[in-house]
Amino acid sequence: MQELVIEGGCRLQGELTIQGSKNGVLPVLAATILCAGECRVENCPRLRDVDASIAILRHLGCCTRWEGGALLVDTTHMDKNEVPDALMREMRSSVIFLGAILARQGEAALSYPGGCELGPRPIDMHLAALRALGAEIEERGGTLRCRARVLTATEIVLPLPSVGATENAILAACGAEGTTAIYNAAREPEIAELQDFLNAMGAQVCGAGGSIVTVTGKRALHGGTHRVIGDRIAAATYLCAAAACGGEVRLSGVDCRALSPVTAALYEAGCAVESGVEDVFLRSGGRLRAIHPVRTAPYPGFPTDAQPAMMAALLRSAGSTVFVENIFENRYRHAGELSRMGADIRVAGRVAVVSGVPSLHGASVKCTDLRGGAALVLAGLQAEGTTRVSQLEHIDRGYESMERELALLGARIGRREETQWQERGTIEDADGEGTPSS
Ligand code: UD1
Repeated sequence: MQELVIEGGCRLQGELTIQGSKNGVLPVLAATILCAGECRVENCPRLRDVDASIAILRHLGCCTRWEGGALLVDTTHMDKNEVPDALMREMRSSVIFLGAILARQGEAALSYPGGCELGPRPIDMHLAALRALGAEIEERGGTLRCRARVLTATEIVLPLPSVGATENAILAACGAEGTTAIYNAAREPEIAELQDFLNAMGAQVCGAGGSIVTVTGKRALHGGTHRVIGDRIAAATYLCAAAACGGEVRLSGVDCRALSPVTAALYEAGCAVESGVEDVFLRSGGRLRAIHPVRTAPYPGFPTDAQPAMMAALLRSAGSTVFVENIFENRYRHAGELSRMGADIRVAGRVAVVSGVPSLHGASVKCTDLRGGAALVLAGLQAEGTTRVSQLEHIDRGYESMERELALLGARIGRREETQWQERGTIEDADGEGTPSS
């Protein structure tokens, strides 16, 4: 078992190039199976969720190989249409393979993704969209069996702008005769990214980024090359880290327009922020002030995925900040762990009130989920003494070596295997050899 060991109290200083987007690359990898050919996915982040997608692709009969930072996927010999339970459990968003397998094979079987650390995560909208396109879906013993001899274009109205349901509907509609319109589609940048990749493969998808997406299906798709966008949530996490610790950081490789709810909140909290097109600079004195309520909302609102990092940034602020979580029911599980470090957080249902405390102290804490785990690391960076963060499998789902990135900014952080402890400025590379971090 591994843990992150953090000696708090360092200012953060320096520059980072932001990793490719986790939520951007996952639907792109599912989309590769719509063609029978070779796709090249550049700037592909090396994450546990990407490994899980690779395992699914391989199980389906596709070949994958890394070429530097690019993942090559050859879907020519895909010959299976079911995803076993063990692979589905690895990553809950594996459900986006459903629409793609259905469009390619006319049949798909996978296990129900089930509940989640963020509360119930139903897929009723995914299934309703596929049924509207003509799929027959049977749910038996935790397995979903979908069949559609033909998929036919239709109008799909999503009750909520669900990111995953929009992606599944777009992927399945690529296999449907005619033009499908998806109303109340999610407007996240990752939907536009999926549209760009599909169009590079020869599909005809329009309107992503807005509320109505149209897909003209049954076009002959071919392999394509795609560069994954920068991860706006990883960028938000590192900005919140610098805001909380104090210092000056510049992040590049991320579309700053997509970060604006987060940068606006950090500005309100007292940071200087300058956004370019693909880079953002932040300076912080390290003592923030409380801000207006942070209400999470679908894009372009405040992202639910950045809520835990923002909460961590405000733990030592002057005053109290109210958080209202509107997307997921159970997204404050990190609050209990943060309290072990001296944070003052009161949670009541969807509302959490963070009252700034003069100081935090190091503690042993456990990641409860991906973004909550990142919040614990951010708290450890500001705490007095040593913090140990365990259950890193959550963090590794979405951050490409978070400790390496933070060490590059001057944080005293290392990943420890048993008794190994890396000194300041030293990180562990893939071969286990220490490498200077700057
Ligand atoms: C995606 C992101 C996740 C992010 C979330 C919201 C990926 C891999 N994950 O998750 O990081 O936090 O968007 O921005 O891209 N819902 C239903 N029925 C459904 C589908 C969703 O009720 O069939 C509800 C969910 O329970 C939730 C809300 O809709 O309350 C939004 O969820 P959704 O946008 O679907 O999130 P994901 O696609 O799972």
